[in-house]
Amino acid sequence: MFCFSYVTFETDSIYVNKLIYYGESSDILATILVTGGGGYIGSHTCVELLNSNHCVISVDNYCNSSKESLNRVEMITGKKIISYCGDIRNPDILRKIFRENKIDAVIHFAGLKSVKESVLNPLEYYDNNVCGTINLCEIMKEFLVKNLVFSSSATVYNSDLTSPFNEEMPVGKVSSPYGRTKYVIEEILRDLKNSDIEWSISILRYFNPVGAHESGLIGEDPLGIPNNLMPFVSKVALGIFPYLTVFSKDYNTRDGTCIRDYIHVMDLARGHLLALEKILSENGIEVYNLGSGMGYSVLEFIDAFEKICESKINYKIGEKRQGDLPIVYADTTKAREELGFKVIYDIKKMCVDTLNWQRKNPSGYSNTR
Ligand code: NAD
Ligand code: WQD
Repeated sequence: MFCFSYVTFETDSIYVNKLIYYGESSDILATILVTGGGGYIGSHTCVELLNSNHCVISVDNYCNSSKESLNRVEMITGKKIISYCGDIRNPDILRKIFRENKIDAVIHFAGLKSVKESVLNPLEYYDNNVCGTINLCEIMKEFLVKNLVFSSSATVYNSDLTSPFNEEMPVGKVSSPYGRTKYVIEEILRDLKNSDIEWSISILRYFNPVGAHESGLIGEDPLGIPNNLMPFVSKVALGIFPYLTVFSKDYNTRDGTCIRDYIHVMDLARGHLLALEKILSENGIEVYNLGSGMGYSVLEFIDAFEKICESKINYKIGEKRQGDLPIVYADTTKAREELGFKVIYDIKKMCVDTLNWQRKNPSGYSNTR
């Protein structure tokens, strides 16, 4: 039996009805609403979901992404995404989505993620991230959909801890409003679960996601000058920026630069599928670190990238960046034991795939934004 459905799309406020082919209905495992599906991690997770025969619905206001990423996801997978343009703080758009689709679970990526911006505009961050999540949960509750995977961050761990971080360690003593939005949302989700045992929630604390899909069709596309290391390094490699500033060589680490746990975005995407399987099969609320469990210094990272691009990455040593911790990497035992999660890709592959994406799309999705 084939599975078709009429869906109303909102594209730049024009409504169009489209007949969507989902494939054979017996093939479909579950229908997943992905908030922020057009974004970096969301789009890569959509690929994994579609490849695993889930039906994917995305809602995104494209404040930090392009609709083009979802077109590319469809190119990669040969499958359709049902996509809505809208803000998760708008209850009407969410009600419309839940009315028009029989959703089994939500993977919630939508949010603002710049640490720097959050210091300048804390209210915008609390409104978008916290109020957006509350609104989403309200509507989920209204439609009796109580399965949720939430994008949290390693940034919620207390800033005075020693790596590796495990999920039992204290959280909340964070250094930015962005981090605090993630901490507050985690607490809200715990309260929600306490109030109603039917909720099944997985909180995923990502470490440093990097890399791109190996097709080079989708990848990370930050607006303006990137704050994060990988997009900056890859733009230096392509000559878009003349040099990288390494934020200090005075840390108490093996080469004086900060150590981070980089994880390939496709490994991270796979982690979401494992978390999804878990919440769909049993009720509970669990937190999982998603990292590789290994730490690389900034200089080791540059060295790995230079080997892949076969040219020098120019860099200068600069001042410490406020809020940077010397060493951050994950204890991945819990995700391995309870989800069966293990990274496949190493730092070489992270660099190869980033460079491929950057070379094929030197301006990202810019001409389509
Ligand atoms: P991203 O900015 O690429 O993706 C977020 C998406 O959400 C974007 O497409 C954006 O347009 C959309 N969005 C934002 N606010 C929205 C709203 N109110 N309504 C609808 N759509 C909205 O970021 P990403 O790197 O893919 O991160 C995804 C999630 O993972 C975020 O919640 C982020 O905080 C979290 N996270 C990211 C990292 C990282 O380093 N990338 C690390 C830890 C946690
Ligand atoms: C990595 C290392 C910098 C840029 C951030 C958020 C965190 C999470 C992941 C969302 C650090 C150094 C960087 C540069 C540099 N995001 N660096 N020169 O800070 O570990 O984590 O992204 O939840 O919340 O804070 O990642 O990529 O910015 O930095 O030397 O131009 O590279 O000092 O040691 P970070 P990053």
